[in-house]
Amino acid sequence: MAEIKTVGLIGGGVIGAGWAARLALNGIAVRVFDPDPDAQRKIDEVLENARRATAKLTLAPLHDPAPIHVVATLEEAVAEADFVQESLPEREDLKRELLAAASRAARRDVVIASSTSGLLPSRLQADMVAPERLVVGHPFNPVYLLPLVEVCGGEKTSPETIEQAMTFYRSIGMHPLHVRQEIDGFIADRLLEAVWREALWLVNDGVATTAEIDDAIRYGAGLRWSFMGTFLTYRLAGGEAGMRHFLAQFGPALRLPWTKLEAPELTDELIERVATQSDAQAAGTSIRDLERLRDDCLVAVLQGLRSHDYAAGATLNAHEEKLYETSHRQVMGADDDVSQPLALHRGRVAPEWIDYNGHMTESRYLQVFGDSSDALFRYVGIDADYHAASMSYYTVETHIMNLREVGAGEPFQTTTQILAVDDKKLHIFHRLTATREDILLATGEQMLLHVDTKAGRAVPAAAPVLARLHHIAAAHAPLPKPDGAGRFVGAPRR
Ligand SMILES: NC(=O)c1ccc[n+]([C@@H]2O[C@H](COP(=O)([O-])OP(=O)(O)OC[C@H]3O[C@@H](n4cnc5c(N)ncnc54)[C@H](O)[C@@H]3O)[C@@H](O)[C@H]2O)c1
Repeated sequence: MAEIKTVGLIGGGVIGAGWAARLALNGIAVRVFDPDPDAQRKIDEVLENARRATAKLTLAPLHDPAPIHVVATLEEAVAEADFVQESLPEREDLKRELLAAASRAARRDVVIASSTSGLLPSRLQADMVAPERLVVGHPFNPVYLLPLVEVCGGEKTSPETIEQAMTFYRSIGMHPLHVRQEIDGFIADRLLEAVWREALWLVNDGVATTAEIDDAIRYGAGLRWSFMGTFLTYRLAGGEAGMRHFLAQFGPALRLPWTKLEAPELTDELIERVATQSDAQAAGTSIRDLERLRDDCLVAVLQGLRSHDYAAGATLNAHEEKLYETSHRQVMGADDDVSQPLALHRGRVAPEWIDYNGHMTESRYLQVFGDSSDALFRYVGIDADYHAASMSYYTVETHIMNLREVGAGEPFQTTTQILAVDDKKLHIFHRLTATREDILLATGEQMLLHVDTKAGRAVPAAAPVLARLHHIAAAHAPLPKPDGAGRFVGAPRR
């Protein structure tokens, strides 16, 4: 499959806009077809929420957001696209018609995915040209934060299509789950629907309000669902004897009338009751504010799971690793000219890096210098395998000199000079420059120590890494000592 640089979106509502945001923030250009005259505004608002949430989620070097164009026809959206994602209203006739049109307008090798929550792919692909490239890619709201995407093929879908879709979704930080057997509602929505149906019964029968039902989930089962799901959780509920004991103990309850599963009829009275109780629950908070609250809580959960490298946190870790790798792609070649300070890291000042003075806030200078050290590490061959072997450099000291302020959107570049290196210690000096006007913004001097992260003590770096560092250090030795290197805080400036 060719590299995916542009994605065509059909439908730019809640889900389409979420896709647009995730894709753009992963550096993939987006062309959206949606006749809603408000589409651009809605997409811009979702993108703003996504930018805000992503900036909180990760310090990894993000791509410059790629452009999102709302176009006037379906053909304009898909003709040049390397991948197509349909997010039309959940109506089979409409989806079939537009997927068929997309299959005529898109390149023949392009995968066409549908965001449908539960319609069968075999039916969706029925009128398409080259139906083997239709696949369901069912995401979850908000698409820009939640990693799960269920991937399900129809009767005519080729295994290559499934593989290509899974690979692509992985590349944008998602966790594709292959639904191997085509089934209404796939896996996740069958589970969600079961809870939803019972919840509606509880409201219908006056057993509980919408707020009480939400409390029953969010103070208990919901917390453990987010990382262990149902089966692993119940295994633990069975104690030392595990799942067998759990089934023996709670098996009989399966025969008791604990669930109805068939949905209650949505009478006017039930609709009114659910809507009124839901309004009371929201207590006047706007949808946008609730969305931001949801995003902040999701970020907190994902970050918590990341620190355990577990479930969705492992997906986040893997994506961050890739972002670092893409950003610092350069690995030292035998013929590289390393006689000057190395220009290994570049970026752009993000809007959320700006403080109340209107300039880049001080903690971001440290982040930029930290990213520059990471770029140096990659350059000398320190990669994910090296870290997995419990080897890493830790920063033990940093001295930053702030020389000039810089505003949002400014492109920047850093250079890194090696001042000294031995088996365990590395002494480096970064310069941060605003590239547009070639102005030195700040310098950062750092001392790093090579450690065995498991043992928690300093150890020599691996021989190939040391060889590269020594090679660069020898090439840098004739360079003048940088102004500011070895300064103490408050030393007079020249
Ligand atoms: N909302 C969710 O939580 C969720 C989650 C996962 C999957 N989905 C699925 O995603 C799909 C979209 O759902 P949604 O929630 O974004 O709906 P939505 O109503 O928010 O968005 C649908 C968009 O399609 C546009 N549209 C309507 N007719 C069109 C046409 N002829 N051509 C192009 N665009 C057209 C509408 O203007 C609207 O912007 C559905 O299949 C749904 O089942 C939804």
